[in-house]
Amino acid sequence: MSIWRKKPVEAYHADANKSELNRVLTRWGLTSLGIGAIIGGGIFTLTGIAAHDHAGPALALSFIIAGIGCLFASLCYAEFASVLPVEGSAYAYAYGTIGELFAWFIGWNLILEYMMGATTVAVAWSGYFNKLLHLFNIHIPDYLTNDPVSHGGPSFNLLAFIITWVITAILVKGIKEAAKTNNIIVVLKVAVVLFVIFAGAFFVDPANWTPFIPAETPILDALGNPTGEVNFGFGGVLTAATIVFFAYIGFDAVSTQAGEAINPKKDVPFAIIASLVICTLLYIAVSLVLTGMVPYTDLDLKAPVASAFEGAGITWAVYLITIAATAGLMSVMLVMMLGQTRIFLGMSKDGLLPHNIFGKLHPTFKTPYRSTILVGFIISLVSALTPINTVSEMCSMGTLLAFAMVCVAVLILRVKQPNLDRPYKTPFLYFVAPAGALFNVFLMSYVRAHTWYAFLIWGAVGILVYFLYSRRNSHLHPKS
Ligand code: ALA
Repeated sequence: MSIWRKKPVEAYHADANKSELNRVLTRWGLTSLGIGAIIGGGIFTLTGIAAHDHAGPALALSFIIAGIGCLFASLCYAEFASVLPVEGSAYAYAYGTIGELFAWFIGWNLILEYMMGATTVAVAWSGYFNKLLHLFNIHIPDYLTNDPVSHGGPSFNLLAFIITWVITAILVKGIKEAAKTNNIIVVLKVAVVLFVIFAGAFFVDPANWTPFIPAETPILDALGNPTGEVNFGFGGVLTAATIVFFAYIGFDAVSTQAGEAINPKKDVPFAIIASLVICTLLYIAVSLVLTGMVPYTDLDLKAPVASAFEGAGITWAVYLITIAATAGLMSVMLVMMLGQTRIFLGMSKDGLLPHNIFGKLHPTFKTPYRSTILVGFIISLVSALTPINTVSEMCSMGTLLAFAMVCVAVLILRVKQPNLDRPYKTPFLYFVAPAGALFNVFLMSYVRAHTWYAFLIWGAVGILVYFLYSRRNSHLHPKS
């Protein structure tokens, strides 16, 4: 059955040796890209809703739960990245172990993660940038900062549109420029997160942490009947974990930079784990400080962190946090769009996507410029015209599935080819991989129903595209 055909691991090694991308990224450069992708809208925005509506002060617990799921997945990603240091990431890992249709499906879901992730972040960026302009008394008409539905009439989110093209230009120019821009932003945002933790700690009132997990309340539908979903209680903590899961997305994007790393087999695994661990510790601390500073019922839903400092009377911190969040979101977009084009590059090398568009590198910049411009074009329009409040959940869904698949695939490879050279080996793999897969599938079951419907439709379209185009054009397809 052709849908199960696999690309041999040796073929990946040959691909990696032939790679024409610029190898410039060091171990800490890669780690910085990971942090650049991770810290963004999640911690600066979603913490408000997650604590206010679902977890209360137990937000920190939600971060720990989501963090454990990610840690298991990151250990599995790390082993794979050491065996298959190619830009296709989870897509390539699945192609080498499970089979083509599966690999395609993962690649298709990674579009949810990277492209939808970047789109969500573009819109979040326009919100933050607009807030920044307001702080400096500059006002842009609403129809230029909103999508038509939220605005209630013709409109075009010009800010989201512009930022997408700025990032696209940096990415076309080269990986060195992209990494430099990212490094500057990472220093700024980590400094501000540390500021939030240490300065905020002085304003914590431990009384705000009680009750730590507020009592469970059933969610009712419009007719007053229980929907089966709950707020608060342990169920609420889990729902909040699926929401804040978004805040962790990005560490895996490091694996898509394998083709641009100087020493991918050792440095990519290191950077995946290091960036995740650093951000997990920061997140847990921020959520404790935030819910300690403000009673969870009073948390602001749009800019909870900045508002907490405003409430504490440190108004200048609002400028600092808003600037850091605005810049921080740019690096998230940068790494996500970078990841998306590298996954497409990997898929086009295998024939599953047209090489002419997705595989062609710029003669001087050595970047997949056509694909980068296409990705920029789509993101700029979608973010300017569509209401995407719930898209972040779609992004989490696609990512959760990819993480679960990577955990399964790494186990299969270990069993089938135990003697492969593995510069990094996942510790306790026979526990970590199944636990990671189950954990991520379990979190998927807590994603809200409407997201599931959208996800199933997306999956069906992907399978259609596979059978109409990719299967026949695959390099593994017998030539007639
Ligand atoms: N982790 C990224 C963010 O929170 C996607 O913005």
